[in-house]
Amino acid sequence: MSKTSIIEGVDYGPLAALIGQWRGDKGTDIAPEPDGEENNGYSEIITFEAIGNTSNAEAQDLAGVLYHQVVTRSRDKKALHNQTGYWMWDKENNLVMHSFTIPRGVCVLAGGEVVDPNVLDVQAAMGDKEWEIIQSPFMKKKARTVQYHIKISVKGDTLNYKQTMNLEIYGKQFEHTDNNALIRVK
Ligand code: HEM
Repeated sequence: MSKTSIIEGVDYGPLAALIGQWRGDKGTDIAPEPDGEENNGYSEIITFEAIGNTSNAEAQDLAGVLYHQVVTRSRDKKALHNQTGYWMWDKENNLVMHSFTIPRGVCVLAGGEVVDPNVLDVQAAMGDKEWEIIQSPFMKKKARTVQYHIKISVKGDTLNYKQTMNLEIYGKQFEHTDNNALIRVK
């Protein structure tokens, strides 16, 4: 299935390629443990839905895509991760934004310039003046996410991503990473 960037009159730019449902079962997760790390193979479904335009202060126009990601550990089919949010494109400023929340008490607003129309590359950091991470008091104290970076590449019906969360947990710094390759199924 091929996509153009104009969908029902709205120009989604680099986000158009995301719209649909994707599945992948070759995910690799490295996550923190008190005595080191755990490695998880995972499968996931990500659904992206076009939601149209928003304008801000009559000066900024955004095209938005809503998504939901559901991740299951391969070895025991346990729910491993659940995430929901938006990708937004600001055509005039050639900017993408990625806002999302995970049910640990962590919200992220990441952003980045579009350099390649087939690649979404955004980051955020705790205390950053532009792209921030917001966390519950508990998470800030015990399991803080200091930096976040994701790079997604879409080629036709194949989507690859890699993300890195720099954490401070169990009295040390930890690089929590995830990557997967997904195929468009709808
Ligand atoms: C594919 C996506 C992800 C997977 C599969 C995943 C998986 C995991 C796993 C297995 C743990 C270990 C603790 C547990 O078993 O619950 C963990 C911990 C954690 N994750 Fe993720 N994660 C993902 C994405 C994220 C993202 C996007 C963030 C933040 C922006 C994040 C932040 C954290 C934090 C702060 C912890 C420490 C909490 C703890 O271990 O008690 N994760 N994650």
